[in-house]
Amino acid sequence: REIYVAGVGGLSPVVPVAQAELEKAAQVGMSPEAWAYIAGGAGRESTMDANLAAFEKWRIVPRVLRDVEKRDLTVELFGRRLPAPLLLSPIGVLDMVHREADLAVGRAAASLDVPFIFSNQASFPMEQVAAAMGDAPRWFQLYWSRSNDLVASFVKRAEACGCDAIVLTLDTTMLGWRPRDLDLGSLPFIQGQGIAQYTSDPVFRKELKEHAPGSARSAPEIKPPLNLQTIATALEQKANFPGGLLKNLSSGEPRAAVQRFLTTYSRPSLQWDDLKFLRAHTKLPVLLKGVLHPDDARKAVELGLDGLIVSNHGGRQIDGAIASLDALPAVVEAVHGRIPVLFDSGVRGGADVFKALALGATAVCLGRPYVYGLALAGQRGVEEVIANVLAEFDLTLGLAGCTSVRGIGRESLLKI
Ligand code: FNR
Repeated sequence: REIYVAGVGGLSPVVPVAQAELEKAAQVGMSPEAWAYIAGGAGRESTMDANLAAFEKWRIVPRVLRDVEKRDLTVELFGRRLPAPLLLSPIGVLDMVHREADLAVGRAAASLDVPFIFSNQASFPMEQVAAAMGDAPRWFQLYWSRSNDLVASFVKRAEACGCDAIVLTLDTTMLGWRPRDLDLGSLPFIQGQGIAQYTSDPVFRKELKEHAPGSARSAPEIKPPLNLQTIATALEQKANFPGGLLKNLSSGEPRAAVQRFLTTYSRPSLQWDDLKFLRAHTKLPVLLKGVLHPDDARKAVELGLDGLIVSNHGGRQIDGAIASLDALPAVVEAVHGRIPVLFDSGVRGGADVFKALALGATAVCLGRPYVYGLALAGQRGVEEVIANVLAEFDLTLGLAGCTSVRGIGRESLLKI
């Protein structure tokens, strides 16, 4: 309650508190394409569902008479004390749900001092979002491009923007099979949405000039195999192209920019050895996002990575993949406290945060719920969603008999 009031300045709430109601209300205001993109998952969405179901397999076993009047929610991550073990997951193409997109989320995160992980597929360049956040904590999420120069440029920009860490997302070297989007013929990137980090990048712009000088390229023939490029080409006919966010490019370039983005944005051939390049180009801590196997976790520690985010991308990549929470204990065990293990995919409230921490996560990242807050009420909506999660977490912590994040342990949980 305290956090809630402090967070939103005591004004009356603008978003539903109950998760199901929040989702329902958000859907009403979204285009069918936005809803499909945000709420949808891969294939039959069995992993997306499993992410939530996995939390139901664990029950909190409270302890009583432990003086929980004073509680400390803070955690330290990479030398910075955070008000709570919570960050905002990187989520791309937020302008699908709100005009102010990343700017609104950045301001909301800053008002609560919760770190915002800037998406590589953001709707606003990181420089603009950073400027809107003052000196509040932010990280940058990277997709490894086919161009190492572009990778180096993103990292350099992230450093200049005051990011405290780089999150390398590894589960999306190719976009997952997402029937809801495919059925609607909707892929935001081909309308120029979610490529602002690219079109604002000096290296990308230089490559654009070299590879697609000036004029628009005609759409290439559609041929198998089915990959992002061919799907995009197939969908392009339906798209209302070019999107407004490419206005900063000179005429003729938007189509070329999208084509260039599609051919360059990711490198499926990426291997462990390539990570040295990243190490050599930044002094910031590097976390790997999308690690689910304990052997990968062990390898990451051996190679000197600074942290992991156990995640299956919200069930958007592999249908049938292990639920993120089910993967957490083995990864935690493999890491053995040597580096922080963060967690996302399925966190919907404060009790979920508690369970993930009890299973060994150092902190958790909130995903879809803050997008629903954004859709409903911009910055204010995001603030409320975060504040609600934190307030529920604080209450759960105390009611379970703990007074600090460090005090949460496996003994607080029972598997049913
Ligand atoms: C994502 N996610 C994501 N991850 C990432 O590293 N870079 C990105 O640009 C995106 N974009 C993105 C868009 C949308 C619409 C969603 C829903 C998710 C994955 C995100 O960081 C996080 O892993 C999931 O959202 C966690 O799942 P839940 O808790 O949101 O279901």
